Amino acid sequence: MDETPPVHTVVLAVTGGIAAYKVCEVVRRLRDHDIAVRVAMTRAATQLVGPTTFAALSGHRVITSLWEDPHPQQIAHVRWAESCDLFCVAPATAGFIAKMAHGIADDFASTLHLAVAAPVLVAPAMEDDMFRSPAVQRNLDTLRRRGVQVLGPGTGALASGRHGPGRMLEPCHIVEAVLRTLESGPPQRWLEGKRVVVTAGPTWEAIDPIRVLTNRSSGRMGYAMADCARDLGAKVVLVTGPTALMPPWGVVVASVETAEQMASATLERAAEADIVVMTAAVADFTPGEVAADKLKKSDAGSLRLDLVPTTDILAELGRREGGPLLVGFAAETRALEESARGKLADKRCDLMVANRVGEPELGIGASRNAVIVLDRLEGRVELGPAPKRQISTGIWNAVRDYRRRAGIADD
Ligand SMILES: Cc1cc2nc3c(=O)[nH]c(=O)nc-3n(C[C@H](O)[C@H](O)[C@H](O)COP(=O)(O)O)c2cc1C
Repeated sequence: MDETPPVHTVVLAVTGGIAAYKVCEVVRRLRDHDIAVRVAMTRAATQLVGPTTFAALSGHRVITSLWEDPHPQQIAHVRWAESCDLFCVAPATAGFIAKMAHGIADDFASTLHLAVAAPVLVAPAMEDDMFRSPAVQRNLDTLRRRGVQVLGPGTGALASGRHGPGRMLEPCHIVEAVLRTLESGPPQRWLEGKRVVVTAGPTWEAIDPIRVLTNRSSGRMGYAMADCARDLGAKVVLVTGPTALMPPWGVVVASVETAEQMASATLERAAEADIVVMTAAVADFTPGEVAADKLKKSDAGSLRLDLVPTTDILAELGRREGGPLLVGFAAETRALEESARGKLADKRCDLMVANRVGEPELGIGASRNAVIVLDRLEGRVELGPAPKRQISTGIWNAVRDYRRRAGIADD
């Protein structure tokens, strides 16, 4: 039997928040990716979930105290720290975050944290009032400045039944962040403090009360651009047409349906933005009139739709003097690069992402993409075929490179 040992070891510190039960799923999913998982628990965490559950899921003994080590001569926190490729605290209580920020080492998990040299991820989970408290916010800032990745928290239903910020990120998002960090290291936060607007998805142009004209855009490329920008430190607004996707955590979402709604939401937010990324597949035309009642087959033998052009958001933004850095997407079926180069100049964009459409496994509607990124300074880079999250990393790298060459980088 092929028994290749796991390449990576993740140490998970489970602290005393109600969300501890969800971390069982994190362990399971990491093991599905052939990652070895060691679990340390605080005393408070063991009141909420039994260590036996984590031992069974991880396949290893769980340590809950500095003083229960069966091999004290090896000093478990030192041994674990040495073999650890990534240290993740989930859920991270307000109390544990404070200990991390202040270097307190009074139990196994907090002592281990100080011994670890590997990247550290923290998934806070607490009531909204606790999360908003200046003490917690200051401690999280301290951790961020130290290079710790703070994941979320999300906004939603809390253990108390209240609704607000403080909800631990979903296990799938924590696992995603762990995998990304293991693969490419902690993201460099070169967009820290920047305001980024990303548009995504299709638009719906109404024909009658129940029918719309739309396109095959799934929104995945735009959501990946927004997700990646947030990881790079930006404050992100995602203006999205109708999609079946869960919005990335930590971004402000503005949901729209029509091209006109997309235009007004984007133009308004772009006034405050440093960078606008126009990934959305916005309808170029919309019915001049919307039928008040459902159109019936029996009304006429055939149906003619009178379409009028919609607002050209990209061109509108390109005309703004001193406007944000502008990244356009050009979906083309023919003469891809030539058309994209034309659009780059016509719409006065800084960068244009040329996106071939019509290939079933790639581009619009698919989970993978292959693009050419062109910029105003003759820059050209080909990316993919690759998953859209990977493509988005490449596009943001191209934006960074362009800003440097254009002399407008401040990172
Ligand atoms: C039922 C229950 C649920 C709790 N949930 C949370 C929580 O979600 N987040 C948090 O910061 N504290 C929570 N606490 C409080 C912590 O468990 C408490 O501050 C504890 O001292 C944290 O210890 P630790 O950080 O060592 O795990 C909860 C307490 C109880 C009794």
